[in-house]
Amino acid sequence: MRKPFVAGNWKMNKSLSEAAELAKGVADATAGLNGVEVVIAPVSLCLASVIDAVGSTHVGVSAQNMHWAEQGAYTGELSPTMLKEAGCGYVILGHSERRELFGEGDEFIHRKLRSALNHGLVPILCIGETLEEREAGKTQQKVDFQIRAALSGIAADDVADIVIAYEPIWAIGTGRTASPQQAQEVHGAIRELLTTMYDGSIASRCRILYGGSVKPANIDDLISQPDIDGALVGGASLKVDSFAAIAKACA
Ligand code: PGA
Repeated sequence: MRKPFVAGNWKMNKSLSEAAELAKGVADATAGLNGVEVVIAPVSLCLASVIDAVGSTHVGVSAQNMHWAEQGAYTGELSPTMLKEAGCGYVILGHSERRELFGEGDEFIHRKLRSALNHGLVPILCIGETLEEREAGKTQQKVDFQIRAALSGIAADDVADIVIAYEPIWAIGTGRTASPQQAQEVHGAIRELLTTMYDGSIASRCRILYGGSVKPANIDDLISQPDIDGALVGGASLKVDSFAAIAKACA
């Protein structure tokens, strides 16, 4: 059985003091929820204070991005060893904002994913189509391509531990959610693709999250779909109440 997974992507929000307070609030509000893995992803400046604030609670901490190299002349970047040393367990890779606004391509994301796995970080790999691609009937083609590119040459056992987040770009921060049926259709096809690329047991272990305007009001219908294993939450993760409600619905 796959344990549901809920991650809060705080994006470029929350100051140092606000981040520690929100992290503590999330840990308190989700205490005792054993049936869900809860992860929060603050800005890199706040990673250490958030890790401190959640302490030894059940809440995991993720970075929002990283470089693949361990060190070197990469101004502005963070390395996997730095994240590990700070106490991060996860890293979001290939978010559509990184891809679209910062020009990160599939080869970059593949290198980062490989490096995260080599350093014992769980990658949360984001994929998803634009509105034009959906309207042109190219959703599955896009998602397949992104998955194949990211996972190229990655060992089957490692793939089972990766968390995949399907985030249709048209649903991110727009208030427009994919319907549970639209999301399930893509999630089911992703699991089939993983079965083809690896095998059924790897595909059935891999958690596939939905992301894009997830809120307390729509999570029940999403999480009841057979291939939706949790959520990557942006806006609604910035408040304790809404994020905790989403985590509870998934538990
Ligand atoms: P949203 O963001 O929940 O605000 O749509 C999701 C994401 O970008 O991960």
